[in-house]
Amino acid sequence: NTIVAIVPAAGSGQRMQSTMPKQYIKIGHATILEHTLQKLLSIPQISQIIVAISSDDDYFSTLEIASHPKIKTTIGGDTRAASVLAGLRLADETSWALVHDAARPCVCVSDIEMLIKTVFDYQQGAILATKITDTIKKSISSTDCTPVQIEQTCDRRFLWAAATPQMFNVKDLTTCLIRAEQQHVELTDEASAIEYGGGHPILVECKRDNIKVTRLEDLPLATLYLQEQGY
Ligand code: CTP
Ligand code: MG
Repeated sequence: NTIVAIVPAAGSGQRMQSTMPKQYIKIGHATILEHTLQKLLSIPQISQIIVAISSDDDYFSTLEIASHPKIKTTIGGDTRAASVLAGLRLADETSWALVHDAARPCVCVSDIEMLIKTVFDYQQGAILATKITDTIKKSISSTDCTPVQIEQTCDRRFLWAAATPQMFNVKDLTTCLIRAEQQHVELTDEASAIEYGGGHPILVECKRDNIKVTRLEDLPLATLYLQEQGY
């Protein structure tokens, strides 16, 4: 039951519109990526952390945390899935992969621990997620064309917003991600690769702190959550 954390951190943060990739923006005393790595480092069951960085990354090697004995880097790919696959290639086939976005620094350590406990108890893959509180409308065509008519209201009692970490065994996840890649299925998380392969991962509810820092307006919120958590 060894766990390898894989941290996709090879994105360029287009939607943040900042000069540096968003994972290197500072919140308080540390960058977003450092906050994320600190959370993972505080869990003793995680034996190694593989960070997938961009081939033209000039920032990672300047961080103090880069020399931590548990942390290794690899070069990510053009998509998040490709970056995760690059990380998986360095992981032992018999271990568990805990994939966590660099851009989610506010995840609660206790929620990660709950995810790990669930995976070990059920011996099945699982992900952190939050219950949907909004009323969700499905439109008759894609959200790219607005205004657009409503097709129907979704039954919220069954809806969750997927977050990370997402934890699967290395072998299954690798197989499913490669299959999805070969069939040109676009994925935004690991669970969808497993689902595509016929699996039904478990949802573990996490606190709403676990936002993905995506746009400029997410920074004040992330700052507040980290402050409240004592970072
Ligand atoms: N990521 C990655 N490799 C890619 C694309 C994304 O490792 N080719 C990582 C990002 O660094 C981030 C996580 O996947 O930690 C989630 O992706 P997202 O929030 O979309 O980040 P970016 O792709 O950097 O942002 P944007 O989509 O706005 O460009
Ligand atoms: Mg992206």
